[in-house]
Amino acid sequence: MPDTASVGSPGTNDIYSERVLVLDFGSQYAQLIARRVREQHVYCEIVRHDITAERIRELAPKGIILSGGPSSVYEPDAPKCDPGIFDLDIPILGICYGMQLMCDRFGGKVRNASAREYGHAHIKINDAKDLLSGLPDETDVWMSHGDQVEQISGLFRPLASTRTCPVAAMRHVEHKQYGIQFHPEVTHTPLGSQILRNFVITICGCEGTWKLGDFARETIARIREEVGDARVICGLSGGVDSSVVAALLYRAIGDQLSCILVDNGLLRKDEEGAVISEFSSHFKTDLHVVSAKERFLNKLAGVSDPQEKRRIIGYEFIECFKEEATKIKDAKFLAQGTLYPDVIESGAAQDGPAAVIKLHHNVGGLPKELGFDLVEPLRDLFKDEVRKLGIELGLPEDIVWRHPFPGPGLAVRCLGEVTEEKLAVLREADAIVVNEIKSANLYRSTSQCFAVLLPVQSVGVMGDARTYDNAVCVRCVDTDDFMTATWSDLPYEVLARISTRIINEVKGVNRVCYDISTKPPATIEWE
Ligand code: XMP
Repeated sequence: MPDTASVGSPGTNDIYSERVLVLDFGSQYAQLIARRVREQHVYCEIVRHDITAERIRELAPKGIILSGGPSSVYEPDAPKCDPGIFDLDIPILGICYGMQLMCDRFGGKVRNASAREYGHAHIKINDAKDLLSGLPDETDVWMSHGDQVEQISGLFRPLASTRTCPVAAMRHVEHKQYGIQFHPEVTHTPLGSQILRNFVITICGCEGTWKLGDFARETIARIREEVGDARVICGLSGGVDSSVVAALLYRAIGDQLSCILVDNGLLRKDEEGAVISEFSSHFKTDLHVVSAKERFLNKLAGVSDPQEKRRIIGYEFIECFKEEATKIKDAKFLAQGTLYPDVIESGAAQDGPAAVIKLHHNVGGLPKELGFDLVEPLRDLFKDEVRKLGIELGLPEDIVWRHPFPGPGLAVRCLGEVTEEKLAVLREADAIVVNEIKSANLYRSTSQCFAVLLPVQSVGVMGDARTYDNAVCVRCVDTDDFMTATWSDLPYEVLARISTRIINEVKGVNRVCYDISTKPPATIEWE
């Protein structure tokens, strides 16, 4: 059984008393379903599709949602759920594949739709009670399915239909068991939140008591209890996750907290100063800044392979951290900003879906061998919840809304060999990109924006003189999960201002281009 016993993992106390489970059948939207349910202030967890009815009984959720999935119910290896869940007397909502599974289980018929239905559809509602209550007679929804329910058994009755889908929604005649063919969790189903609200509040009877303020209070109390009077070390990176962890711990244990910031010389302009001033003045933590710029740059000298750069930076980071941590007396715990998506995707959630995809490159993570017990107070939260919690804890908006920044820092944006001179150019160009995006009020609507220093020189003309200088590429992307991304459709005037300012203000740059590649096939970073 994977280890989930770190400090800060879910308890059985009040704020978790109302939970809804999402059984994951491989849906790309499972996390989104959980987030939408939590928006109704109901705690929601994603679990394996084959979780036993017995285990569900132990967890005592108020409701169960069967997610969509890419399979067809008649495929020999199609993922199934324990049929016992239908006898638990807990309300169930099947979405897309989840609905087809219910239909198959109760003697209905699922068929391969003649054409895969993907995109906007229009439903007509013929029964606007409980699940579809408050919706108009007709509304737009988002479909994404190959199969669809063709015929339901006498145990169910249809609630809505589309032109091509006779049963777009259904309910069991006796039990609180519902199915919908479309996806209420995506924003393309404008009234989807109302449907999920109807399910969790009206049908499951949840009161909606999951509030981040309560979460903070309970987590702070739990940390106090579990940490006792030991010292906790927290690595700060300037990013939102580690900042929120530190703020939470500071509230819980005050001066028993020691923070370590490794200045690897690869941070953005003024970043180190901002973190230092925040955590030494506002939070007054015992802050250890490890000035390791030269150490990192020496190790990186002559190295241009991206993976080798990552390896060196990761290794040096751990060494620096270890050296500093051993100087801190009585330290027993190490705090980490692990989030719920990391827990799910690493397969470490106790009942969570098995590891399918392992996320990114994980530079900046610390190995277990450091010998500390882990404190992971954010392991139940999604990123948007972490941001809200940060505000709740009094962190400035600037930290809370900061775009993610990779562990290897500017090294993977300074293509080829990393030198101090190149970093200085990149840092200035990057600051202009971020500054202009913020001035145009686009920082919150974009997911990441930065400059990349290309390893090319090109000819230019400045005044009367010919130049042969560096080229900078601007990268700005929109994404929900960083697994796929589109380039941001920035207004021309913003692009023009960025370009003019970089060329005029950053010595050594005479050309600026804009990256218009999506991920995949490109990645967000260039290295
Ligand atoms: P890519 O370039 O893989 O990036 O599309 C996806 C997200 O991950 C970040 N990223 C990293 N984060 N260490 C990190 O901690 C890394 O080595 C690393 N490489 C990329 C990237 O900034 C983006 O948010």
